[in-house]
Amino acid sequence: MSVATMRFEDGVLHLIDQRVLPLAFETVSCRNAVETADAIRSMVVRGAPAIGCAAAFGLALDAQSAAGQMRPIFDTTLDQAFAVLAASRPTAVNLFWALERMRGVWTSQSTLPSDEMAVALVREAQAIYDEDIAANRAMGAHGAALLPQEACVLTHCNAGALATAGHGTALGVIRSAVEAGKNISVIADETRPFLQGARLTAWEMVQEQIPVTLISDNMAGHMMKSGAVDAVIVGADRIAANGDVANKIGTYMVAVLAARHQIPFYVAAPLSTFDLNAADGDAIPIEERAADEVTGFRDVRWAPEGVRVANPAFDVTPAELIAAIITEQGVIARPDRNKVAAHCRAAPMNNQ
Ligand code: MRU
Repeated sequence: MSVATMRFEDGVLHLIDQRVLPLAFETVSCRNAVETADAIRSMVVRGAPAIGCAAAFGLALDAQSAAGQMRPIFDTTLDQAFAVLAASRPTAVNLFWALERMRGVWTSQSTLPSDEMAVALVREAQAIYDEDIAANRAMGAHGAALLPQEACVLTHCNAGALATAGHGTALGVIRSAVEAGKNISVIADETRPFLQGARLTAWEMVQEQIPVTLISDNMAGHMMKSGAVDAVIVGADRIAANGDVANKIGTYMVAVLAARHQIPFYVAAPLSTFDLNAADGDAIPIEERAADEVTGFRDVRWAPEGVRVANPAFDVTPAELIAAIITEQGVIARPDRNKVAAHCRAAPMNNQ
């Protein structure tokens, strides 16, 4: 595995600082849930599965610090850790899914001494992390089979190793296809305003020498019309019960363009990204982020003072525009409510 997005070692969670890549390779160390929540909120770590794993480790950090305390004190510490982590970002359901898994372990044995419970919570966080890598590998194999022997694949945002515990979802499919001997090249949308495509996807692909061409977001239609794109693959932050997919802002635009040009639009996401409690995309909370992400980048400002700004971080692609959703369990072709329900019901880890 080329990129280790996070490392949990000796009571510290080390995260690659994704805000400064690719100009610098630095790590941020989190020693408790508050620091982990800050890292998630400020995008040190981002990407739906990655923030789920980070949140689980963040909770484990506070469990370790409170180990040895009487259970009521330990339980109060954990309650506060859950609250602070759950408030870090709203859209990616993996965060809440991971926290609920941790809560399941925590509440299952109310009389277990706190030091033993802390060990169990660290073990669970590690399992969430390990299972994410395994899910991405399985998803990669299912998705790679959908791609032709030679293909140029357009992707939006970063759904790579950096956005997960490793291998990636959308980029995992691309990596697996390359490993299987397919001749795959990538077009990376830069992904304004946070530039996950230009900074992170381009960096991951360059590291691995997978041919990648960077475009600004407004070039995607032209590339499709000129025949340069054979397929689109993106990740997801939350998938509703009817198959609607919330992903990085701009994904909907890409899906509409792909439909116009009869290019298959695929979504690769683990089962932990499904939210069957959301009936459709309208029920998915869309994070609104700070205006300064749009008015400039880092220290440079290009928009006039006083301008009104909108910065929704995600949008929803209706299920009807999606050729298939790829999970670790297989492929949901032309997803709809019934197929999503059947797919999730058949999952060994029924997450709902
Ligand atoms: O705001 P971000 O960078 O956390 O948004 C990330 C995305 O939208 C990804 O495409 C999504 O989480 C899938 S990651 C495997």
